[in-house]
Amino acid sequence: IPVDPFDLVVFGATGDLSERKLLPALYQRQRAGQFSEPTRIIGSSRSELSDEQFRAFAREAIGTHVANQDIEDDELARFLERLSYVPADARSGKGFDKLKEKLGDSRHVRAFYLAVAPGIFGDIVDKIERFDLATPTSRIIVEKPIGRSLETAREVNAVVGRVFDETRIFRIDHYLGKETVQNLMALRFANALYEPLWNSAHIDHVQITVAESVGLEGRAGYYDKAGALRDMVQNHILQLLCLVAMEAPASLDADAVRDEKLKVLRALRPIDRHNAERVTVRGQYRAGASGGGAVKGYLEELEGGASDTETFVAIKAEIENWRWAGVPFYMRTGKRLAARVSEIVIQFKPIPHSIFGEQAGRVFPNQLVIRLQPDEGVKQWIMIKDPGPGGMRLRHVPLDMSFAESFSVRNPDAYERLIMDVIRGNQTLFMRRDEVEAAWRWIDPIVAAWEDLAQGVRGYTAGTWGPSAAIALIERDGRTWHESV
Ligand code: BG6
Repeated sequence: IPVDPFDLVVFGATGDLSERKLLPALYQRQRAGQFSEPTRIIGSSRSELSDEQFRAFAREAIGTHVANQDIEDDELARFLERLSYVPADARSGKGFDKLKEKLGDSRHVRAFYLAVAPGIFGDIVDKIERFDLATPTSRIIVEKPIGRSLETAREVNAVVGRVFDETRIFRIDHYLGKETVQNLMALRFANALYEPLWNSAHIDHVQITVAESVGLEGRAGYYDKAGALRDMVQNHILQLLCLVAMEAPASLDADAVRDEKLKVLRALRPIDRHNAERVTVRGQYRAGASGGGAVKGYLEELEGGASDTETFVAIKAEIENWRWAGVPFYMRTGKRLAARVSEIVIQFKPIPHSIFGEQAGRVFPNQLVIRLQPDEGVKQWIMIKDPGPGGMRLRHVPLDMSFAESFSVRNPDAYERLIMDVIRGNQTLFMRRDEVEAAWRWIDPIVAAWEDLAQGVRGYTAGTWGPSAAIALIERDGRTWHESV
């Protein structure tokens, strides 16, 4: 369904995010027929490009980051037609008058995308205000990192909040735009089967794994100051945890959902100097092998000598509320792990009593595995009888719903959904200010504890599942990490 015409201004239009994600996603929406006339996409950054040069940049970006079979020459031409470019310097304000002129007095929905380093957010927002670029229905899209602590997150929120009220601020966590993540809500709340069991009486524990095989990818400057806890746990992993653990919202209304997520964040048991060593593990990769070749260790990739930044973190979290008391949530994420795989595992409790003798084999507890990427899908593991006349032998098998096999549609990138939600004004999949701040309120004491206790990183070989201490973290409780591949 086409949306009403809009003007999207992308600051940082020649940067990495724009190249890898935004332009390809916008092109796909063009192909899907979602743009009506006269929708405009206006790139801006400090580089002095002409419209034609920016179009060439976009053509190249789409050529590189969109699958060949999806590139249709006439759609691409129509898409490039929508693009224009205005050089502007957020610090000095030079060029913003041109941007103003370009936007004119159009009454269409106007969105500003800050695809820039957070250090420049303030300058851009200032100039949007000073040059009077915002209309009453304008919205602003902000990317992570939103701060590096509660205090700095508040500063970012305050800067943006000076010009845009909360209903016009769209904080992106691209995990919320992933198909399978949204499916989590469908799975939980569109089926009668799970919700009655979704609590401490029936669930033994939950695992959330977001494993990456890539290393630094040229982002050393940012990453070495952030580390895995800030880069992945504060946002993506906590958001996943919220969607698994929240109460049923009354509707899909943005605040109904975000209120429930916020309650989960507020119920997380604090991790501080008293328990950090018991429930957290930090790791850093050493040289090893990945993707069939030898790869450097983190420090060699940094080329900067020493660093205590974690590229892996495992945490045993607990949610102190009626539904989840006593149910651990084991979370782990890292770079240069054995595979790229993200999944959520819900492990149910064992049956209370087995009527099958020993010769029937082991009765495994049921497991629900939600695979976010790659091979998106849901597997419900159940016990069945092994077919054949050989008596009662039990077998553990998955009821398997693989998206690629079940639906022959392209799996859209998260940004496609999220950008269009901004234009439609739907905030359900965006983080509210209090949510971001509540997440930091839980993360800050972990960082402080690590510093206080001098809890250093443990080395792990690139291409493995992280430091052995992460395995010990869960095995101490008599459990094991789900084998993800
Ligand atoms: C980003 C992190 O937010 O998410 C990156 O900054 C990480 O370090 C990326 O690689 C992972 O996203 P995806 O969609 O590839 O799982």
